[in-house]
Amino acid sequence: MSVNKVIKRITTSILRDMKTRGEKITMLTSYDYSTAKILDDAGIDVLLVGDSAANVFAGYETTLPITLDHMIYHASAVARAAKRSMVIADLPFGEYQGATEDAYKSAVRMMKESGVHALKLEGGTEIIENIKKIVQSGIPVCGHLGLTPQSIYKFGDFGVRAKEDAEAAKLKEDAIALQEAGCFAIVLEKIPAKLAEEVSKMLDIPTIGIGAGNQTDGQVLVVNDMLGITQEFKPKFLRQYLNLNQEINKAVKNYIEDVKSQDYPNQTEQY
Ligand code: KIV
Repeated sequence: MSVNKVIKRITTSILRDMKTRGEKITMLTSYDYSTAKILDDAGIDVLLVGDSAANVFAGYETTLPITLDHMIYHASAVARAAKRSMVIADLPFGEYQGATEDAYKSAVRMMKESGVHALKLEGGTEIIENIKKIVQSGIPVCGHLGLTPQSIYKFGDFGVRAKEDAEAAKLKEDAIALQEAGCFAIVLEKIPAKLAEEVSKMLDIPTIGIGAGNQTDGQVLVVNDMLGITQEFKPKFLRQYLNLNQEINKAVKNYIEDVKSQDYPNQTEQY
């Protein structure tokens, strides 16, 4: 007799229930099939196909150059791997800040061609009409406030956002607008912990923090940073769970030595 194990996919309503219960939501970025499979098997709630792929996958300084085609390629690989995790993909810079019809078309293309379950868009009231249109068409949208890297040239640096009263008030206004527009969650990036706590308490929808303290409803990290693949990026909020860079370096050095010394392949490793 075969027993089919039914795996229940994480949905937007499950995330909302988790907030109600006080169970923290776990999210990591992911850009490829193999890594996504490991993260999904380990039990991560949400996989974010972040446009940080522009930085950690492609080596660009900012997230601006990544295109919708690139993002669909990464997102479809992650979506094929995820059995339980919910998969969210970023819409890249330039795909949703203009005309509502264009934003809607980009959103539909991403959903149809990648197979992800939801989209993430950076910004507040400035893009609210476009978010409403996408949500009304049946696509779940996650907001993103605070340090929004697609606006890096407006900010000038990757420093903490909303430290001043005016920017904090605008962020709260944006958070309410996003909730009213139908967003199912909001990422809060690099803002004071106290502000993130206030916003999280004020909203019914979950907040997912990165550099926003521990009172948000969940946490997200860039997987390459938390696994220690990236070496040069070590912000205060980052906890590195592994030094994979060092481990890979050791393994590659061993391989080089084995090949050079003709130890590899040996009798049992050939046909
Ligand atoms: O692109 C990304 O990786 C992100 C996270 C940092 C939240 O937006």
